[in-house]
Amino acid sequence: MTDGKKKLRSQDWFGGRDKMGFVHRAWLRNQGYPNDYFGGRPVIGICNTWSELTPCNGHLRDLAENVKRGILEAGGVPMEFPVMSLGETIMKPTTMLFRNLASMDVEESLRANPLDAVVLMAGCDKTTPSLLMGACSVGLPALVVSGGPMLNGKFRGGEIGSGTFNWQVKAKIDSGEFTADDLTEAEVCGARSAGHCNTMGTASTMAVMSEALGMTLPGMASIPAADSRKKLMAQLSGRRIVEMVHEGLTPAKVMTRQAFENAIVVNAAVGGSTNFILHLLAIAGRIGVPLALEDFDRHGSQVPLLVNLKPSGQRLMEDFFYAGGLAVVMKELGGLLHRDVLTINGKTLDDNYRAATCYDTTVIRPLDQPLQPAAGIAVLHGNLCEQGAVIKPSAATPALLKHRGPAVVFSSMEDYHARIDDPDLPITADSVIVLQGVGPRGYPGMPEVGNVDLPRKLVEQGVQDMVRISDGRMSGTAYGTVVLHVAPESAAGGALALVQDGDLIELDVPARRLQLLVDDAELSRRRAAWAPPAPRASRGYVKLYVDHVQQAHLGADLDLLVGSSGSIVERDSH
Ligand code: FES
Ligand code: MG
Repeated sequence: MTDGKKKLRSQDWFGGRDKMGFVHRAWLRNQGYPNDYFGGRPVIGICNTWSELTPCNGHLRDLAENVKRGILEAGGVPMEFPVMSLGETIMKPTTMLFRNLASMDVEESLRANPLDAVVLMAGCDKTTPSLLMGACSVGLPALVVSGGPMLNGKFRGGEIGSGTFNWQVKAKIDSGEFTADDLTEAEVCGARSAGHCNTMGTASTMAVMSEALGMTLPGMASIPAADSRKKLMAQLSGRRIVEMVHEGLTPAKVMTRQAFENAIVVNAAVGGSTNFILHLLAIAGRIGVPLALEDFDRHGSQVPLLVNLKPSGQRLMEDFFYAGGLAVVMKELGGLLHRDVLTINGKTLDDNYRAATCYDTTVIRPLDQPLQPAAGIAVLHGNLCEQGAVIKPSAATPALLKHRGPAVVFSSMEDYHARIDDPDLPITADSVIVLQGVGPRGYPGMPEVGNVDLPRKLVEQGVQDMVRISDGRMSGTAYGTVVLHVAPESAAGGALALVQDGDLIELDVPARRLQLLVDDAELSRRRAAWAPPAPRASRGYVKLYVDHVQQAHLGADLDLLVGSSGSIVERDSH
């Protein structure tokens, strides 16, 4: 409150008439700030993941100016600051290794600085969960401004979906259909505007998740980065965050258990990424909402697929926006959602979306005419994944959802690359490809490699899909009958580490089972002979990560980051 009842947090820095008050104000005077900036106006952090190394967020430096306008109009004081930015297409070995590090940056930047609230500016995959995780561990009023997708890629009369096209590029290069010039042209045509991936990959999934949780202004998720309405949304978000300070509207009041259940339902209806599972679990762990892997199956697996976007469907985010966007999905889902939950605009979900109109039912289907009747994530159990594994049935081959076949085991990605295209490799379309050592601790960082390419000799025979099982992730833009996130991972001694070539594996998605058909005595014998792999890091953040990362069924957060430290910092710097 700023009406005298409750002092603003920022006044602990700027309100003092003592030496420390002087220090906190004086150096900021070099920005030319007038007195009233320090006199009790809410100070709003703009936590920006802009970076030239994160192309999907390359426009957020400019977009922050629109947020600032809104903050100033509403009487606040904007203070923009950078945090670690995670660029999916460039960073090695995988951005997932750094999601938790970025969240620590966010958390401690918020705690240490004179902020009353924060606008989280995100875009590329991991930038959204890392910001939300950090903000949840502090608890100041917060909202998300998502940067928006790129315009549809246009290439030689057809359309290119970011990510989904990657899987076709390899085939075109292999077959000689693409020259170096063709490749360059496809690159230019695929990414022709600012923004993140234009498919329902992980970035769009995260934007949808933020809106479904109630953490954005309604309509935010689907607006393309290049559309002027994204700027408008940024400005309105700036105005709104100032009001949220006066209202004391914190994330804990919005991100309730019901909001998390809504996010699971919405993710299924839009055909969202499997990465959603890891990020939502980690966010829930920070805000203190109990959420289990099984909740994704219980609340999501029977939800119909309403949105026809790649990789589950055909179209792209720009089409989704013109069709009415996420608002239509939120309306269509009706009683499948908790409709009286509070969102950051101070209204309920039902208030926000009740009047939505669909302008293209080829892109967004009505609830009674879905693209698929049950689209959400299936959670598997069995002796091969005692703490669970996941599969996205909507991206799989229906005939493979019940399958029994002999394992062909690869102990690492290096082993896979060395042998997969060996003409003598004993592998058939019925084989089950088992990939070890790509979990959180083992790789480390749980890369998006679970949807490994099939052996070339089988592809040439016309094989299009095979069962693949790993402790890794897959890109939100990928597809196939791919079992992911096996927990415990092989490097942690899970049964995945004990699989040998020729072992029969049974996948039964309708029964939610993943079983290694090897008797217990033999498995015990193998376990006794098993030794954990040598640690991949001896120092630095990666060692901290390997020593503390939790398994996939808990969201792969660091154990010491679960929960919240709040926003109160007791001691001063002098
Ligand atoms: Fe950044 Fe896809 S690579 S969103
Ligand atoms: Mg990705």
